[in-house]
Amino acid sequence: MSRIADFRSDTVTRPTARMIEAMASAQVGDDVLGDDPTVMRLESTFAAMFGKEAAIFLPSGTMGNQCAVAAHIVPGEEVIVEANAHISKYEGGALARIAGAHNCMIQGERGMLPLPDLARAFRAPSVHFPRTGLVCVEQTHLMSGGCIVPLEYLQEVKGMAAHHGVPVHMDGARLWNAQAETGVSFEEYGSVSDSISVSLCKGLSCPVGSMLIGDGAYIERARRVRKWMGGGMRQAGYLAACGLVALEETLPLISEDNARCRRLSVAALGLDGLNMAQETVDTNVLFLEVTDSAIDAPMLESELAERGVMTLALGPRLLRFVTHRGIIDADVEHAVRALQSILS
Ligand SMILES: Cc1ncc(COP(=O)(O)O)c(C=O)c1O
Repeated sequence: MSRIADFRSDTVTRPTARMIEAMASAQVGDDVLGDDPTVMRLESTFAAMFGKEAAIFLPSGTMGNQCAVAAHIVPGEEVIVEANAHISKYEGGALARIAGAHNCMIQGERGMLPLPDLARAFRAPSVHFPRTGLVCVEQTHLMSGGCIVPLEYLQEVKGMAAHHGVPVHMDGARLWNAQAETGVSFEEYGSVSDSISVSLCKGLSCPVGSMLIGDGAYIERARRVRKWMGGGMRQAGYLAACGLVALEETLPLISEDNARCRRLSVAALGLDGLNMAQETVDTNVLFLEVTDSAIDAPMLESELAERGVMTLALGPRLLRFVTHRGIIDADVEHAVRALQSILS
């Protein structure tokens, strides 16, 4: 069978040969009992990388985000969050269901809450209002097309939140893709966030896993929440071993995914019937608007699939491409030729 180019998501990446070897030879224990040496090494490595005291290994980014919120707030407190952020819009209502959060959703621009809107969103102390308990940011911001939220903006948000005594959580599922472009150190990103969740199973290609990073007492609370959620894993070192390999093997390759996405966008925009549905292509995510009146995004998705190019239609006119380690230059060329043959 001919090669399939799978642009649906960077979550489709498979573990590398080195990861599989590392799994086979991992030293493990029982992580719920706190003695899995590979998990302990992964957690301390991530804590050091972000300049924080502690980290916890979790099965998914959703669990990382939801543990993060539940460990920051008490039920009934308000979480300020961008209206299209993954944590609020794409996690099944978990902010309300798990943390018991009262949500204050603000429409952002390029993943950023307008600062005057954010300033107004912090509640004055009053029995009538929920207490503001947390501000969430997302880096990169998926639904704005993987755009990079600038460090200066994150510093402003942190300063405003600190002024109100409110912590900041960063959903950094694709922080790797931002960091590869900005060169801002992980420690600097750590300094503008009280907690950060990062994904191992997207661009980094691990089969499973996310990390939540923060100070020691906070991560102990998150450990308790992970337990409530049934997220304690026993010989988790087999999976944690992949995360350690990823830092050496796949993290240095992330800029290639961003570059391929930019090449794809330039070529696709040369075709009639397509427009960019985002302002810039900062990283590895490309949303195209299908403007050709003869075809809509779900039809284009299935026509492309017949030609071995998998994408995601996320609306009648919106088609998503995500580049990752499983996409090579030839896949980009193949996708452009396939688009050309359908749209001409
Ligand atoms: C920005 C962002 N945050 C969090 C998640 C959740 O990660 P997971 O699918 O591992 O639960 C995703 C998943 O795509 C995401 O795109």
